[in-house]
Amino acid sequence: KNIVILISGSGSNMAAIVQAAQQQDWARTLDARVAAVVSNKADAGGLAFARQQGIATEVLDHKAFASREAFDAALSELIDQYQPALVLLAGFMRILTPGFVGHYAGRLINIHPSLLPAFTGLHTHQRAIDAGCKFAGATVHEVTAELDIGPILEQAVVPVLPDDTAKALAARVLVEEHRIYPLAVANWLKRQN
Ligand code: GRF
Repeated sequence: KNIVILISGSGSNMAAIVQAAQQQDWARTLDARVAAVVSNKADAGGLAFARQQGIATEVLDHKAFASREAFDAALSELIDQYQPALVLLAGFMRILTPGFVGHYAGRLINIHPSLLPAFTGLHTHQRAIDAGCKFAGATVHEVTAELDIGPILEQAVVPVLPDDTAKALAARVLVEEHRIYPLAVANWLKRQN
């Protein structure tokens, strides 16, 4: 089973998944492998990591397309070359069209840096701090047409500390993201076998 991972930035969640696949030998234990890493940003730091790991990389610049639909159509055509059993969004900063989401229904997963359904959208850590939350966290969920909502697969909770900054809270949450995303993917794959 081929996994395709979509990134837009550092790709630290993608890297955590690639490392889990290697360390837990998903090829043998789950008949699964990360077949490609795709980014809408040519300068995404995660692309260098993927290339170092010998994983195919693709870049599709969304600015080269006249519409969101045209970009998403080209993106799914590119992804489908790898015949993915599973597509993972990992720091992929694009809102996907219903057509794209529908094409991958049931095999599209995302990680969002909040305890959904709280704080969908952006700037989740600052919003949690501003709201006076005592806890924050991350959620791995199946992607449906509604942004940042969908069946929850895993969650992790971290404390919000007094005088926390968004930067400090983000770093604390990211550690947990790197734990729960590979866990959620491995469990999803086990349910397919
Ligand atoms: C993370 O907070 C993730 O939850 C969000 O994007 C941020 C960066 O992720 N989706 P990564 O380091 O690019 O994986």
